[in-house]
Amino acid sequence: DLSRLDLGRGDLGAARAVIMDAAQVASVPTEPIEGQKTGTSGLRKKAKVFSSGNYLANWVQSLFNALGDEVKGQSIVLGGDGRWFNKEAAQIITKIAAANGLKKVYVGQDAVLATPAASAIIRKRGLYGGLIMSASHNPGGPEEDWGIKFNYNSGEPAPEKITDQIYEETKTISEILTCPDMPDIDLSAVGEVQYGDTFSVEVISSVDDYLELLEEVFDFDMLRKFLSSPKFSFVFDALHAVTGAYAEPIFVEALGGSKDSLKNCVPKEDFGGGHPDPNLTYAKELVALMFDEGGKYDFGAASDGDGDRNMILGKDFFITPSDSVAMIAANAQECIPYFKDGLKGVARSMPTSGALDLVAAKLGVPFFETPTGWKFFGNLMDAGKCSVCGEESFGTGGDHVREKDGIWAVLAWLSILAKKNEGATDLVTVKDIAVQHWNEYGRNYFCRYDYEGCDSDSANKMMEHLRTTVIPSATEGSKMGSFTVAKADDFEYTDPIDGSVASKQGIRIVFSDGSRIIFRLSGTGSSGATIRLYIEQYEDDKSKMLLDAQEALKPIIETALEVSKLKEFTGREKPTVIT
Ligand code: G6P
Ligand code: ZN
Repeated sequence: DLSRLDLGRGDLGAARAVIMDAAQVASVPTEPIEGQKTGTSGLRKKAKVFSSGNYLANWVQSLFNALGDEVKGQSIVLGGDGRWFNKEAAQIITKIAAANGLKKVYVGQDAVLATPAASAIIRKRGLYGGLIMSASHNPGGPEEDWGIKFNYNSGEPAPEKITDQIYEETKTISEILTCPDMPDIDLSAVGEVQYGDTFSVEVISSVDDYLELLEEVFDFDMLRKFLSSPKFSFVFDALHAVTGAYAEPIFVEALGGSKDSLKNCVPKEDFGGGHPDPNLTYAKELVALMFDEGGKYDFGAASDGDGDRNMILGKDFFITPSDSVAMIAANAQECIPYFKDGLKGVARSMPTSGALDLVAAKLGVPFFETPTGWKFFGNLMDAGKCSVCGEESFGTGGDHVREKDGIWAVLAWLSILAKKNEGATDLVTVKDIAVQHWNEYGRNYFCRYDYEGCDSDSANKMMEHLRTTVIPSATEGSKMGSFTVAKADDFEYTDPIDGSVASKQGIRIVFSDGSRIIFRLSGTGSSGATIRLYIEQYEDDKSKMLLDAQEALKPIIETALEVSKLKEFTGREKPTVIT
């Protein structure tokens, strides 16, 4: 390939190949395509749709139109979760970026960047923003999903002001600016290529910036010592998705773990045909390793398609994400150097259990309850009010980036284990840490029922029934099954930083003992409606810390199904997924 010099890893930035004049910009006529509605998680559609005609190009041009003059002369980062169409999309996007007056595009090697890594790169290099090609935990491949989102300059998913504007632009777009003669980038080799006087592309390591940041956050020496201890064994399952590209450099090369600990860590364009979502239903192989015959490893973890979600398991033991964030917060100052001066504050989404609230109260740090969606944590973090946050949907993270971070959560747990095991003769296990936590704080039993693929009309009717019939009758002191109502509402959030209001964020019935029933419709599905029912019950009787969650929650689940008339509205006898 004459068009570029092979710079190799060591010569980063040492030489530049000048190969074309970026002035060769072409205007390609196009027409608006319906349904390019962009949310904070970007635009998600079938890969077939995205890869045909001008579908992707229309959206990317609309993004640059929405950003206007502000983006000219700026640098962005581009990468994704390794799914089918990402490499081709990277070529299309780079040419449009060149034609729209950007100065530079940093691209993850092979177009790979985990979502938290992209966020880290934006922050570290002070970039204008970034484009992440991912449909998160949705399956990948030519017959499955594809997606793209824009992150802004503090590394956070684009605010609504921008996503709304992109959508408006998609409705009126008439031309795409591109550089058709610009040669394709060699995505496989790290190095910078200059195109004309004003534009360049630098292929960068997918791992280096992110790993450097993690090294600042965690005590790698302590982790290295712990991972090499013969009394401890761990397994990490990347579900054939993006963290496969990070697992060996981080867990093996940097931390000295064994390569045998890595499962499904070769990223595949179709995630091996699996559903790359780290939960008890989809991470089947890991669940078998950790639970069958009492479990083979002391610690197990998995991450999702783009590396922002996580699941934490002990031997024959599940840490529910609501507990995970609470336990990380409770131990952060002692076990994680980044938090050595204490936490600035903590936050959770509304449906996430109240375990974190109890930790915040004990630590005496500010606590925030936000609507579902990581974007609500960003403002709090930018304002220096939140260090650790989490959601029941297997998202946990800190203010080192502005996305949830799967590998961060794994290293946080390994740090807690490493610290608690310093000087211990017998292994202090994940379960020991959880039980100790529950003995101190009490236990918030929690579970979530998902009813996927419901008829949208029926699901909406059920929500309307809850809103207009159940809430008004659920007055303080009234009975619901054997429970006494404290309050019922449709959750509304006023952002303490910018005053913006988010309403209708989920139906919430809170009982006098702190137990809760919550209903909301998923905002991430691609077809039909998914009803989520979240159940929580608090228990502080020390003899009841190790009950089976399903058993413990049976009465309240029955009450929830009864008052919502879920079966009548949807015809569903059972949930499709329980977490
Ligand atoms: C994405 C967001 C999370 C959010 C989740 C909710 O993963 O990044 O912050 O918790 O969606 O999904 P749902 O399907 O419940 O709307
Ligand atoms: Zn994800």
